[in-house]
Amino acid sequence: MGSKNKLRRFRENETFTNVVQPTRGEVFEGFKLKGNWHTHFNNNNPIVLELGCGKGEYSIALAKKNPGINYIGVDLKGARFWRGAKTALEENLINVAFLRSQIELIDLLFDENEIAEIWITFPDPQIKYTRTKHRLTNAAFLKKFNYILKPDGVVNLKTDSEFMHGYTLGLLHGEGHEILYAHHDIYKNPHAPTEVTATQTFYESQYLEQGKQITYIKFRIRY
Ligand SMILES: C[S@@+](CC[C@H](N)C(=O)[O-])C[C@H]1O[C@@H](n2cnc3c(N)ncnc32)[C@H](O)[C@@H]1O
Repeated sequence: MGSKNKLRRFRENETFTNVVQPTRGEVFEGFKLKGNWHTHFNNNNPIVLELGCGKGEYSIALAKKNPGINYIGVDLKGARFWRGAKTALEENLINVAFLRSQIELIDLLFDENEIAEIWITFPDPQIKYTRTKHRLTNAAFLKKFNYILKPDGVVNLKTDSEFMHGYTLGLLHGEGHEILYAHHDIYKNPHAPTEVTATQTFYESQYLEQGKQITYIKFRIRY
């Protein structure tokens, strides 16, 4: 995408009512929406996050299917989620928002027990050992997810990366978390949950074209 196009999207994001872009100062000095996201949506419906949402395909698809649930796509890249935000506004999907932030700050953005469910869609696997701290299912992230999730809240991980799938399964097993479902090739599994096979993200479509297997894990964090 050209830099002019990016700038245009950044400017448009500023005007979108469904886009929240806090400064680091606002996040670190007690973020006003933490514990108060219901005021953004004007209801007390459950809130589901899509982390590393890119263009936000999951947030949009699930929001259309479940109007009684609020969805928030989180990503650092505003030019990407501009697509999802624009679609949500055009289609009057009032139960979707996009939050521009680092996922590392998630426990400063959402309060204890504020979130019903998390989707992690095609995260960067961060294969190098030195990148472990950025891998979205590492032990430190699981602790933060556990803090913001309701006691029975679940996490869904969809990835093309065998490494990420295996790493996450190993960690979940080793730490004694509850694996509710796991499959290494969901499109070849006739029993795969429909919400997993009904929506393809931007990256996923490319991986499917390349003939890659798509894996899925659904789990509960238990300490
Ligand atoms: C491989 S892309 C997948 C995007 C989308 N979910 C899809 O499947 O098309 C990973 C996304 O995660 C975002 N991301 C990676 N690390 C992040 C972090 N620490 N905080 C916020 N966003 C992050 C990137 O900006 C990128 O949009």
